[in-house]
Amino acid sequence: MYRTIRTGSSRTPTIVAAVGASPNRLPRNLTRLDKSVDGALSTALVRPGFDGKRGEIVFGDESAVLIGLGDIDTLDAQALRDLGGRLIKALYRARVKAVQIEVAASIRAKVLSTDAVGQALAEGLVLGNWKMEAYRGTAAKGDAADGVLMISSSDAATRGGLRRGVILGNATNEARRVGATPPNVSNPPWMAKQARALARNTKITTRVISATELKKQGFGGLTAVGQGSDSPPCLVVMEHKPARAKKGVHLVLVGKTVTYDTGGYSLKINNGMKGMKYDMCGGAAVLGAMQALDALKVPVHVTGVLACAENMVSGNAYRPDDIITMYNGVTVEVTNTDAEGRLVLADALAYSCKKLNPTHLMNAATLTGGVVVALGEWCAGLWCGDDGFRRTLEHAADSTGERLWRLPLWKEHRDFMRSRHADLWNSGPRRAAHPIQGAAFLSFFVDEDVPWAHVDIAGPATTDFALPTAAIGPTGFGTRLMAETAARLAH
Ligand code: BES
Ligand code: ZN
Ligand code: ZN
Repeated sequence: MYRTIRTGSSRTPTIVAAVGASPNRLPRNLTRLDKSVDGALSTALVRPGFDGKRGEIVFGDESAVLIGLGDIDTLDAQALRDLGGRLIKALYRARVKAVQIEVAASIRAKVLSTDAVGQALAEGLVLGNWKMEAYRGTAAKGDAADGVLMISSSDAATRGGLRRGVILGNATNEARRVGATPPNVSNPPWMAKQARALARNTKITTRVISATELKKQGFGGLTAVGQGSDSPPCLVVMEHKPARAKKGVHLVLVGKTVTYDTGGYSLKINNGMKGMKYDMCGGAAVLGAMQALDALKVPVHVTGVLACAENMVSGNAYRPDDIITMYNGVTVEVTNTDAEGRLVLADALAYSCKKLNPTHLMNAATLTGGVVVALGEWCAGLWCGDDGFRRTLEHAADSTGERLWRLPLWKEHRDFMRSRHADLWNSGPRRAAHPIQGAAFLSFFVDEDVPWAHVDIAGPATTDFALPTAAIGPTGFGTRLMAETAARLAH
């Protein structure tokens, strides 16, 4: 793996990558380029063994690599990302230091804009290059990440796409780094530190509401969930407010940031706790999205809110049967301390509605195991009652390849969340429609006139097997989706 991937030209020997080459015939727009590399492309092309099939990566000679895309009619951005993810490994194995990416014109015009082709390829290169390096010790196997890869193109639109793709890939990888950081390091104060570091390096401003303030201001959910831990809970508020932001739009992104979920006194059993360091992946995605919005200078006002707490067991932890009062005054009977995500999110959503005046409100959360049972790890569950906002999200998801699938939320689901001892309970006594119970609970904390989307990312937030664009572990799911959603709200 490379240490860094950057856009720009390089004086080191550059290899030309012909994307969409077909055997024995050079795409018309690459003929001139071929001359500048002394015919390397055409020599490579006539070598035996290149069929132009999708995913084929063949080094022609020292200065050319041919990349097949196969049938153009079935080509989409995700196929290009996967290809980028495969290409990066081939380039690294060949110790390539600089690559000039040239796309066959027939392909760019037909299915995607030139810019989108460049972006998808670069996203794939950067995503496919990620692995967690921070915990390599003295017995580590394999190479440490090393070297820089420069990527460029002779075509301006492709170059623009490459630049965007590198930014979005890096933002996603940042979410993965935060996600993969173990819970003995990554606790609520550590999350606040990551958000402050982002503010130092960008135009984003970060505020942190401390545990003492949370308690004073009535954040009953965050306080209860966090009180069993030696690391105090906090609410992190990050603001991206460019000077030329689109008037009348304010997107608020809320992330479940439970840095570890033991289940609390409703303890996770049968090793169900293992992997619960990933229970902050919603927050990590919000953080990554904020980084991307700043780097891309997306002209929309966006605020990111991280509801940070660690769900632990101790003499001071909250219990089943506790009744707590939330930020908006709603009372909740705790029936299950493992349904903690909705408690921290509820406060953050109510706070967002009361203090931030959102025109669009979205939350990302590893909220329920039930959504994984229902949908697997190939998509996130989506709840959104506002048709316009939902369409924006679904279009954004189509273009970023982070799939969403809508589930219902009816009055019956909401009524099921009413408790005999308080306004609500945080989990019903039956397992009926578990993922929807989470959505129904949250709906009591969002003002009715605010278009709101709940995205349950418990499935796609992590992967158990290596993909072309993701190593085993956190995927950074939601980072690009949220950045793209913001960009779409700008027009
Ligand atoms: N963090 C979990 C959800 C989860 C489970 C995420 C598996 C990723 C993989 C959440 O806090 C939780 O424990 N949810 C419970 C809810 C139940 C107690 C109402 C669940 O899904 O079982
Ligand atoms: Zn839980
Ligand atoms: Zn949880």
